[in-house]
Amino acid sequence: MRDLDPIVERALAAFRAADDAPALENAKALFLGKTGELTALLKSLGGLDPEARKTAGAAINAAKTVLEQALEARRADLADARLQARLAEEALDVTLPGRGRGVGGIHPVIRTWQRIEEIFHSIGFSVADGPEIETDWCNFTALNNPENHPARSMQDTFYVDLKDAAGRNLLLRTHTSPMQVRYARQHPPPIKVIAPGRTYRVDSDATHSPMFHQVEGLWIAEDVSFADLKGVYTDFLRRFFETDALQVRFRPSFFPFTEPSAEIDMQFAQGPWKGRWLEISGAGQVHPTVVRNFGLDPERYLGFAFGSGLERLTMLRYGIDDLRLFFDGDLRFLRQFAT
Ligand code: DAH
Repeated sequence: MRDLDPIVERALAAFRAADDAPALENAKALFLGKTGELTALLKSLGGLDPEARKTAGAAINAAKTVLEQALEARRADLADARLQARLAEEALDVTLPGRGRGVGGIHPVIRTWQRIEEIFHSIGFSVADGPEIETDWCNFTALNNPENHPARSMQDTFYVDLKDAAGRNLLLRTHTSPMQVRYARQHPPPIKVIAPGRTYRVDSDATHSPMFHQVEGLWIAEDVSFADLKGVYTDFLRRFFETDALQVRFRPSFFPFTEPSAEIDMQFAQGPWKGRWLEISGAGQVHPTVVRNFGLDPERYLGFAFGSGLERLTMLRYGIDDLRLFFDGDLRFLRQFAT
């Protein structure tokens, strides 16, 4: 068969030239496919006499075997080349240092929050949570802080462009004290609760931030006295600061929702603040008007409340002198508290 050798040559050249699998399969179709050149030759055998047909048939089949083997070999080469390319592309340099995963940490103020919950929980206080957007009534009026009362201006307030049912603007709570009212109106006495949370005031300097945290405490029953307040709060401070070497004093003060009212001061016997009286919390016996606003009879129920700043407690515990550090998001500062 004169025609055979050039076909085989061209087929082998086409297989070699195919540089990916689809190109190779196309080349195969040109020679071995249904309408391929070799197939056409096979089909033409019918026109030959039997002797010639036998010789030509054997030659064509031999050529076909050669091409099939070449095809297989080329397929394997291409697959191998693809694998090598992928391996090179996805190569890992195991000697590179790892990128690591940023480890999160608990913010120091939140750590204080958690410790306060643990300590008060262990002496029988529940923990309550309430809205940061408050009504004027809960934040001020129910706490014996009537409209136009000068004590309102102690707290410069962020108002929200939404009205409550009474047609008054809602506001960002200026303290956690409204939680006294919300909780007491929903739980029968005895009431023994703390309510930690975020609070807001138009205020910004080294010791004030427009957003800050407070924890409110409330204990209402038939037989709670100022002595209980002193005992509970002193015990709390000793456990919070992990030292018995501190003193607590109550200084007369004014809050509309307590009578009498006190400022709680503390003094460490050791450490950087040693010997200085530090203001730590507002407190007092809950005012009869407020007890009435709880929906309770002030002749029967009484008790105390306190409200303490979480940033202040945190600063004293860790010796931090600028409150803004808590909210700057500087990891060099925050990392010192991540364990
Ligand atoms: N709400 C007061 C404030 O933000 C703090 C406070 C004072 C809370 C006396 C109390 C309290 O519960 O009895 O300044």
